[in-house]
Amino acid sequence: MKDKIASVQQAALARIAAVADMKGLEDARVGILGKKGSLTQVQQGMRDVPKEEKPAVGAMLNEARAAITAALEARKGELQAALDAALVSGIDLTMPGAELPEGGLHPISQVRDEAVRILRRMGFTLSDGPEIEDEWHCFDALNTPADHPARNEKDTFYFDSGKLLRTQTSTVQARTMEKQAPPVRIICPGSAFRRDAIDATHLSAFNQIEGLYVDKAVSVGDLKGTLEYFLKALFGSETAVRFRPHFFPFTEPSFEIDVLLQATGQAPRWIEIAGCGMVNPAVFENIDKATGKQLYTGCTGFAFGIGLERLAMIRWGIRDIRLLIENDVRFLSQFH
Ligand code: DAH
Repeated sequence: MKDKIASVQQAALARIAAVADMKGLEDARVGILGKKGSLTQVQQGMRDVPKEEKPAVGAMLNEARAAITAALEARKGELQAALDAALVSGIDLTMPGAELPEGGLHPISQVRDEAVRILRRMGFTLSDGPEIEDEWHCFDALNTPADHPARNEKDTFYFDSGKLLRTQTSTVQARTMEKQAPPVRIICPGSAFRRDAIDATHLSAFNQIEGLYVDKAVSVGDLKGTLEYFLKALFGSETAVRFRPHFFPFTEPSFEIDVLLQATGQAPRWIEIAGCGMVNPAVFENIDKATGKQLYTGCTGFAFGIGLERLAMIRWGIRDIRLLIENDVRFLSQFH
C-alpha cells in the first residue's frame, strides 16, 4: 500500500509538471483527485490495510494529497503568469499614454465667476429667480407701463399662457424685495431672452448679472463708486469707464455704462456693458402694495444690470459676440 501511494504520488507530480495549459491542468486534477482519480482509487485500498497500520498509511495518504494539491496550485500560478505575459507581449509598457483633450470653462462662465467673486467680496450675496416669468415681475413691479415698447410681442418671447421668457434679470429685484426686508444687497447672474436681431454685439439669449442695493440714504456716489471699483477690479485699474445718462422705467436717474473695447485688429471703441440707476420710488411702492407691508417706501437704493457677454468681449478683446456661441473649439481652447 505504501509503495502504491508513493508511486501514484510520483506519477501525479510528474504529470502536473508536464501539463502545458489550464485545460491539461484541470484534466490532471480530475485524473488524480477526482472520483475515479488515481489517488482516490489507492485510497479505497484503506479498507484492506491491517488496523495497526492504518494511522501510518492514512498519514501518508494525507501527505500525498497535500503535496499534489500544492503542486496543482503552483502549476496554476505558473500557467497564469505565462498567459498574462503573452497578453502584454508586444505592448511597449513605457510608451506614454494617449492624451485626452482637457476641457475648460467657457469664457462666459469664467467672467461670471470672476464678477461674482468680486461682488461677493464687496458684500453682495447671491439671489435667484426663474427664467420663465410673469409680466408682474418682469414689467409691472418694475414700473414698466403696459404700452412700453419692451413689452411688445416683437421684443419679448411670450407663451400662450401669458408667461414670458424674462427679458432681463431685473425680475430678481422684485422677487427679492417681495421676500425680504431691507437692507438688501444682492446680485443675480442668469440668462435673459429678447427677440433681438443677432449681430456683432447682440444675441437673443444672453447673460446678465443683476445687482440691487437698498438701504437708507444710498446715493449716486455709492452707485458710481461701486461699479467703477467693480470694473477696475475686473479689467485693471487703467480701465476707461463712462457713465451716460439714459432712461429705465425702474430707475431715476438712470445711466448706461460704457467701457472701451480694444479688440485685436480694430480701433478702440466704447461698448455699452450695463444699465444702472437709482431705484425709482415707484418700484418700492409697487412692492409694498403687493406685499401689504410698508417696508420699502422711503428707502433709497441703486440697481444695475451688466451684460456678461459684453464683459467677456472687453476682457479678451473679442470683436464679435457671436464667436461666444458658435462652439468652435479653435476659438474656445484659447481660454483654457
Ligand atoms: N434691465 C436692464 C436691461 O436689461 C439693465 C438695467 C438697467 C438693470 C438699470 C438695472 C438697472 O438693474 O437699474 O437693459
